[in-house]
Amino acid sequence: MGTYETLTVEKRGRVAVLTINRPDKLNALSSQVHADGIAALDELKRDQDVRVLVITGSGPKSFIAGADISEFQGQTPISQRDLFSGRTLFNSLDSFPKPVIAMVNGFCLGGGNELAMACDIRIASDSAKFSQPEINLGIMCGGGGTQRLSRLVGEGRAMEMVLTGDMIDAASAERYGLVNHVYPADQLEAETMKIAEKIAEKAPIALQLSKEAVKFASRSNLDEGLRREIDLFAICFSTEDKQEGVSAFLEKRKPDFKGK
Ligand code: COA
Repeated sequence: MGTYETLTVEKRGRVAVLTINRPDKLNALSSQVHADGIAALDELKRDQDVRVLVITGSGPKSFIAGADISEFQGQTPISQRDLFSGRTLFNSLDSFPKPVIAMVNGFCLGGGNELAMACDIRIASDSAKFSQPEINLGIMCGGGGTQRLSRLVGEGRAMEMVLTGDMIDAASAERYGLVNHVYPADQLEAETMKIAEKIAEKAPIALQLSKEAVKFASRSNLDEGLRREIDLFAICFSTEDKQEGVSAFLEKRKPDFKGK
């Protein structure tokens, strides 16, 4: 892996852990974080040894406290629009071909919450706090907040978070369905790695296609979604891993999936 100014990547077996590393700025998403993150994702995408990605923030206080507000100074409507409609960490995570887990260890605000929602699974510490506070800056969400939040938690709850900018605690986020699980801070990493390692044992192509199918559900009507699912399901039948999975079941042994 290359080295990056604003993040680190550590490989733990088949799981890579990407840590946004600007603790003095509560891991705010600067343009350099976006650039480093996109480059790291490109490397991780190609790395056959990596099957699952975990994303977190460094330090005990914050996952990501939003976009770097200092960079909003001097942006024009067009430059800001170009920035967000080009390649971003949000859309790069959304289309990343391997499962991504956000390990939310503290403030998960604005662009941080948008980034967590672009991941596939969110696991939070009991001290994490969530909000879309853009309204307090006289602006609104631009990294998918209005769209992904409504789909995850429903229109009423999304509307309240977006219009008030208020923070919710981890227990509320779990109740809303914004996060999958909440653990005490000292167990967050171990519990997240357990889920990551469990997923990393599965067949990589089936994981990739399953992720694509689930994500398509909120982008299509039911008939289109069902058709897409059958096509992706059929592709699994072309893989060596399908043969391995079925044979392992019949032979009463654990499958050894190769990603082929
Ligand atoms: N962009 C840029 N810098 C940020 C930031 C952001 N989104 N969030 C925090 N920081 C910086 C602070 O400016 C401060 O830097 P400094 O020490 O150089 O002054 C440092 O991170 C620590 O933050 P601080 O505000 O001192 O911590 P706190 O514990 O008092 O408050 C928050 C924590 C999260 C409540 C507060 O930092 C905050 O409201 N941040 C902005 C959140 C936001 O609106 N995000 C959405 C942006 S669209």
